[in-house]
Amino acid sequence: MAKYPVVVYGASGYTGMLIMDWLIDQQIPFTAVARSAKRVKEMMAERVVRLESATYEIVEAEHDVAALTKVFKGAKVVCNTVGPFVNFGLTAVEAALKAGCHHIDTTGEQSYMRAVREQFGEQYAQAGLLVSPSIAYMYTYAEIAAQLALETPGVDVLETATLCRGPRFAAAGVTVGSTASIFELFRSEESYLWEKKLVAHAVGTSINAIDPTFVQPVFSLPWGGTSLPVYFEHDARVRCCSSYVGFYDNNVMQLVHGLSQKWEAEYKDLPKEHQDAVIKQIVDSTTPSMPPRERTTVARTVDFAIGRGQLAAVRATVHGITPYISTGAVQTAAVMKLLDGETNKVGFASACQAFGHRYLLGFLEQRGLARATVSQL
Ligand SMILES: NC(=O)c1ccc[n+]([C@@H]2O[C@H](COP(=O)([O-])OP(=O)(O)OC[C@H]3O[C@@H](n4cnc5c(N)ncnc54)[C@H](OP(=O)(O)O)[C@@H]3O)[C@@H](O)[C@H]2O)c1
Repeated sequence: MAKYPVVVYGASGYTGMLIMDWLIDQQIPFTAVARSAKRVKEMMAERVVRLESATYEIVEAEHDVAALTKVFKGAKVVCNTVGPFVNFGLTAVEAALKAGCHHIDTTGEQSYMRAVREQFGEQYAQAGLLVSPSIAYMYTYAEIAAQLALETPGVDVLETATLCRGPRFAAAGVTVGSTASIFELFRSEESYLWEKKLVAHAVGTSINAIDPTFVQPVFSLPWGGTSLPVYFEHDARVRCCSSYVGFYDNNVMQLVHGLSQKWEAEYKDLPKEHQDAVIKQIVDSTTPSMPPRERTTVARTVDFAIGRGQLAAVRATVHGITPYISTGAVQTAAVMKLLDGETNKVGFASACQAFGHRYLLGFLEQRGLARATVSQL
């Protein structure tokens, strides 16, 4: 049973610990849960800022529905960071529902999000609880940009790009969990919204994203489709939405694209255990260990949305820094609203749908983590 109102699940991980930093900053007590209490204790001592003034407990739990339900009970909100979510996420979603908790997580994986919506959206709604995947840099920043573009009347088509510095994977601060989640995307269908229906991208799709703050176009990929087409599927204002991701190191992005083509050609039809071994080998070779805390001089981001209507055209951009640290911040912004009982939605909904994009943007701006601009075109 959780002693405190917020559970951070995946408390030994890079992102879980950054969420704790922000919870501590806001003086919110929390229960830190992971499969090894010893590892959590060691990692927290090494990484979590202001631990000496925190109110918390550490609880160890197996990753199964019964064990997690038991430890989540008593809390109000579960912040889940155990990914790849396509492998581990639904177990925690089911456990949080059984324990009577809101569930928010840091996924960027579209196929997992669709499974959450189909299997649990209605049950969460009936329980008066929110289930909100993808409250994280990817893709809350792009969603804020899209929502800013939608403030222009008549906009019904969205194209978004999420552009980040890096990655040379571990060297540039991409974590083990993120690398595993990135390469899991090879296995899943990646969709965009076309005339209110989710449609699969053609295999091998890539674009060159153009942003005025870069000299060169940024080679970008659908990256699993992102969360935006799913969240806008039932938004009455939006007919079409496609989203892309580009790390602004075109050579590295070409390498990832090459790996995805190799996957199609050589690994796609292998049994799951063989595919697991291939993904593990790629993750081990690109990201052997946990990276250091991000630096603002290196970790920078640009997320933009272009919105068009019959005659309307608008471009909204959110400049950011330190995407993992910012993920901790947006999770905490969501927790604060949920603890106050202030959510516009229950059931399956995005951060912006539940709490409002202006609230989230304001929270990030106040902490020097984001700056937004909107231009009519
Ligand atoms: N969308 C975004 O912008 C964004 C931002 C940040 C993170 N993320 C996502 O969040 C997830 C976590 O990232 P991270 O950076 O925190 O990764 P990480 O440092 O590798 O941490 C992963 C956490 O999951 C736990 N875990 C892994 N396998 C498990 C299993 N089989 N059973 C139980 N627990 C398990 C780990 O526990 P152990 O320590 O015991 O291994 C650890 O606590 C990834 O999917 C990543 O893509 C997304």
